[in-house]
Amino acid sequence: MTAVGIDAIEIRSGKLKLDLPNTFAPQKGDDPEKYTKGLGLTNSSFPDVYEDIVTMGANAAKRLMDRKGLEPDDIGRIDVATESAFDHSKPVSTYIAGCLEKVYDGDFVHANKGERKFACVAGTQAVDDAYNWIRAGRNRGRAAIVVATDTALYARGDPGEATQGAGAVAMLIDEEPSLVELSNDQGYGSKDETDFLKPNQQFPSVDGKRSMQVYLSRMREALEDYESVAGDIELDDFAYAPFHTPFPGMVRKAALLAYRHVIRDTEYEDDLAGEIGRQPREHEYDDREAYEAAIREYMDELKTTEQYRTWYDDAVEPTLGLSREVGNWYTSSVHVARVSALRDALERDRDFVGETLLVASYGSGAQAEIHAETVRAGWRSEIDALDIDDQLESRYDLTWEEYEDVHDIHEYDKDLDREIEEFTAPEGEFVFTGWGRMNERKYEYVE
Ligand code: COA
Repeated sequence: MTAVGIDAIEIRSGKLKLDLPNTFAPQKGDDPEKYTKGLGLTNSSFPDVYEDIVTMGANAAKRLMDRKGLEPDDIGRIDVATESAFDHSKPVSTYIAGCLEKVYDGDFVHANKGERKFACVAGTQAVDDAYNWIRAGRNRGRAAIVVATDTALYARGDPGEATQGAGAVAMLIDEEPSLVELSNDQGYGSKDETDFLKPNQQFPSVDGKRSMQVYLSRMREALEDYESVAGDIELDDFAYAPFHTPFPGMVRKAALLAYRHVIRDTEYEDDLAGEIGRQPREHEYDDREAYEAAIREYMDELKTTEQYRTWYDDAVEPTLGLSREVGNWYTSSVHVARVSALRDALERDRDFVGETLLVASYGSGAQAEIHAETVRAGWRSEIDALDIDDQLESRYDLTWEEYEDVHDIHEYDKDLDREIEEFTAPEGEFVFTGWGRMNERKYEYVE
């Protein structure tokens, strides 16, 4: 079977940053370590006045096309995943295609465009759609561009405010990909949940603590479903496990659960038995409460063992590097985690072709998806070509008052009684310029 997967990736961060321990924490009267150690976040990216989900997505897609030497005729499909859309009808992909047509010869008239919605898992679903389109042989030799783009803002004062972020990931999905091949096997955990939603509103209604429980439950189901088709996962099967990362502290919890599941009835559990005992089995307990208390106790001990720490430091911690610096990017967060993992492999000069990743996506509402990816021969040059370090380095560092202005200006329905100047100067990028006669958003390319 021809390999299908991700040929190239580009990341575009919002050009502003909010320093959580030094700017956010003092305003909230919190210990800075709540953010750096508890949630695991140092900074959040924010869009400048002239940036939004379209500009970030189009700028990522343009860099992808330029780097791969692509013309519009090479692309048969443009899908956008977002939970920050500003239009219930016209998809963001049409705006992005419109931007790209300003700078390339030719057009995307032949390209199928759409918008995927299922909270943060939509980015992975859009990749799936492209994969299926190519596998079905409907692509006529063309590749697909998938853009996951979000301005992940919460209402001021919401506990989620600390986990905000803004950025886009553009991915080229093609046959014989340079970066990773996607597995045909997938696992799902999907259930009607009311943990995080935006019923006709820009900022989410969130039950934060419940959303964490729902994340873990759906992930467990997806893992079991994946194993039902791909066979039991062995601990050493995967070099990295990139998870959806709303904040690194969430992944810390998910990784511990996954580890407990994977080592059950294996030599790894046996090796730990002398130190912390074997995992509690439900039939050994009189009631569910006692069983759950025993599980909690086992998990508390498991996370301190050297065996677990070594696995976590090798397979999971490296996936969190970028997330700590940018915050939650919703639909692109798991794709940022994948890039963090591959960057770690590059930094450590790993011989990595043929290694596998276990990729775990999640969207509130709620659905988890798990699949495997195999690293391809071109991975090194693809990851080496990223300019994300330069982008993060050159972000404008917001004061608290400036952050308040930025939050206001990106609130769609807010009538601002004051002008807010841009913080950075646009150069070689698409920018938002205002509204048209039908209230559509307008864009230009600035040289
Ligand atoms: N030093 C170290 N750690 C600290 C700390 C300190 N001074 N103060 C707090 N912490 C830890 C807490 O113990 C907690 O970690 P734990 O869960 O491992 O115990 C973590 O920091 C967060 O603190 P908490 O008090 O739970 O934060 P919160 O109630 O303000 O908000 C969320 C946490 C996740 C509920 C909130 O950020 C949210 O609603 N986020 C949006 C929804 C979301 O992302 N859900 C995830 C699924 S998609």
